[in-house]
Amino acid sequence: MTAKLIDGNALSKHIRIEIAQRAAVLASRGHTPGLAVILVGENAASQVYVRNKVKACHESGLHSVLEHYPATMTEAELLERVEVLNHDPAIHGILVQLPLPPHIDGHRVIETISPKKDVDGFHMASAGALMVGQPAFKPCTPYGCMKMLEWIDCNPKGKHAVVIGRSNIVGKPMAMLLLQAHATVTICHSATPDLAHHTRQADIVVAAVGKRKMLTADMVKPGAVVIDVGMNRDDHGKLCGDVDYDGVRKVAGWITPVPGGVGPMTITMLLMNTIESAEHGAG
Ligand code: GUN
Repeated sequence: MTAKLIDGNALSKHIRIEIAQRAAVLASRGHTPGLAVILVGENAASQVYVRNKVKACHESGLHSVLEHYPATMTEAELLERVEVLNHDPAIHGILVQLPLPPHIDGHRVIETISPKKDVDGFHMASAGALMVGQPAFKPCTPYGCMKMLEWIDCNPKGKHAVVIGRSNIVGKPMAMLLLQAHATVTICHSATPDLAHHTRQADIVVAAVGKRKMLTADMVKPGAVVIDVGMNRDDHGKLCGDVDYDGVRKVAGWITPVPGGVGPMTITMLLMNTIESAEHGAG
């Protein structure tokens, strides 16, 4: 078997048409959706990520401002800036790019963002709402993974999903979304003995570990859906995921590539969350 490709670029393009249409409707009513992106310091990867986020906003007709501050910015200054944006009617989403410099408490910063503008879905109010099944912003990467399953007509109901990774940003919310969609969910992590025992039983595997090519063909059930959230570099500096793509594609039914899989979906769902926030604000 050769797995079918879940093309994150193609799906993103499709969803962004809808996003642009909804942005245009909001703009015509005087509510152009706005995203504020805050970057503190000079982390090279973060600079690329935030530039891509702002560019994606502009391409879809959203208003976006990038505020780039030096690494010497104090926590108090950052909190004050977030408070100002919380009250700015032109801004419907606030994203503070992580990681922050070590002298700033990232948790405190995220908790200062108004849950109404928490388009990253990182606030405890958003995480709690997801836990109890109430509407709130969903973290963009897991939200994008769920859209990918929908796109290939894979209904998680009754399926066994294995999530590898337990981060607050991906693993935990991914498990919650799959559970909400009636999957039987197993969360595996670095202290799980015999990971392959679990993954071999999975109809859906989501790999979000940050360890290159750790999911190999022998760990995958024939026909399974494999979603690769990893963003690693191989020995040649080439981008690669947590999944051994060349091996696993011979066994899986569906697979996401890296690059061109989950990555573009994360930005697309950030735009979607910003649109939803603006629509909510517009009434
Ligand atoms: N750093 C890496 N990914 C993300 C993300 O999705 N949001 C924020 N705020 N920071 C990140």
